[in-house]
Amino acid sequence: MYQELHDKLSKYGQQHLLKFWNELDSSRQENLAGQLNGIDWENLTAQIKRYVLKQPDAAIPHDLSPAPYFPLHPKESDLTELYKQAIAKGHELLHAGKVAALTVAGGQGSRLGYEGPKGTYPITPVKHKTLFQYFAESILRLNAKYDQEMNWYIMTSKLNDLQTKDFFEKNDYFGLNQDKVIFFTQGTMPAIGYDGKLLLAEKDSLALAPDGHGGTLLALKRSGALGRMRADGIDYISYFQVDNPLVSIVNPLFLGLHAIEKSEMSAIMLAKTGPFEKLGNFCMSGGRLQIIEYSDLPEELAKAKHHDGSLKFIAGSPAIHIISRKFIETLTADGKLNLPWHRADKKVPFINSAGKLVTPETQNAVKLESFIFDALPMATKSVVLEADREEEFAPTKNKTGVDSVESCQEMLIERDARRLKKGGVKVPRGKDGKPLIAIEISPRVAIDDEDVAAYCRSHGIEDLTSCHEGIYLS
Ligand code: UTP
Repeated sequence: MYQELHDKLSKYGQQHLLKFWNELDSSRQENLAGQLNGIDWENLTAQIKRYVLKQPDAAIPHDLSPAPYFPLHPKESDLTELYKQAIAKGHELLHAGKVAALTVAGGQGSRLGYEGPKGTYPITPVKHKTLFQYFAESILRLNAKYDQEMNWYIMTSKLNDLQTKDFFEKNDYFGLNQDKVIFFTQGTMPAIGYDGKLLLAEKDSLALAPDGHGGTLLALKRSGALGRMRADGIDYISYFQVDNPLVSIVNPLFLGLHAIEKSEMSAIMLAKTGPFEKLGNFCMSGGRLQIIEYSDLPEELAKAKHHDGSLKFIAGSPAIHIISRKFIETLTADGKLNLPWHRADKKVPFINSAGKLVTPETQNAVKLESFIFDALPMATKSVVLEADREEEFAPTKNKTGVDSVESCQEMLIERDARRLKKGGVKVPRGKDGKPLIAIEISPRVAIDDEDVAAYCRSHGIEDLTSCHEGIYLS
């Protein structure tokens, strides 16, 4: 086994990975051999040349123009009519059980600095429910509304799969039918040192990282989850990220528009708060929709404005999609999918040639990730729909500051306060207009304005201004 591996690795200049072979017992040797044999070396070597040994060109097309989108508030009457039909279509598809939820939860959540899968982070402002619980309870409510049991696909990575499944087991799947919660695991990519050599995390193991949320599509296929989806009669996937508890699990208008327009992959867009907000930009190039990362959009385009002062490239991506099952089947038909790689420079601990673990202080390696939005240009038809940021997007990337636990909790409280107000309930607010108390409405009882209004009517809730402590409605 050794000689064969050695010959193969020498061909690609990676024979250092066998340095500790003779120190390993047979099961550890097998572990390492398994990892090394699982790599397509020809392909990886090409990616190393392209993305690691030099800074890759951003390869920005020269014909970028802002992508068209369906506006949040339709002005023309035919658009208003289309939205009405789309909402009805969305409800119809949900009633018919044609839609599944899909949460990508395989990331490492390094910015949050939290031990454990990000979905197990306690996020809600009063009851401190975890992200997974919050989504699970929202799905329970959807199930009740549409008289269906929705499939919920959760993508994990090899690094957090067991912990994630354990968490659901221990919590009894939060009341969901466990057969309807389908975990599937994404692929990994080896971390690569700046000299193009792969790193060892242990003497018998490569330093591996999840292959990015673009890995979702192939992982669905390889895990068999896609086959099950077809067998279960599911035609559409509502895709969202584990760190955005504000998201609608399925937005009926978005779903209906996707179906009516015969889109293959659709996207929600938000109006950016400024030219350099850290959201991908929806652009057109060669007649195809694509997302250009905020760091890659040329400055003059990012700053370009219309006569009324609004940004031309206004559409930012919160990573919320409807994807047709058939589109994924077509893309992954031969068990392969070549999405482009994106380079991320990281500090990756590794075993050095003396066999010692080194924890670097500065970036020493490249991780390669693929992104789900790179599938957009492969779709023959896409719909982009504007959404209200306050209703859809509260990412939990950091502990404090922008896109943090703090800002997310504020947005959750504000959203529930708004819903209460729409339901005719008085909410205590300070001079700055912010709610004076923490408010949390359990998704088990309400997931939209109508639900909240009906709940408050039936429970005689009219005025919360005399409350001084956090309120939890359940
Ligand atoms: P991010 O790109 O924000 O990464 O993921 P992250 O891993 O959560 O956080 P950092 O960058 O290490 O701080 C956006 C979404 O995509 C998922 C994440 O779980 C999150 O829901 N994701 C990301 C995956 O499922 N797999 C990946 O390989 C990367």
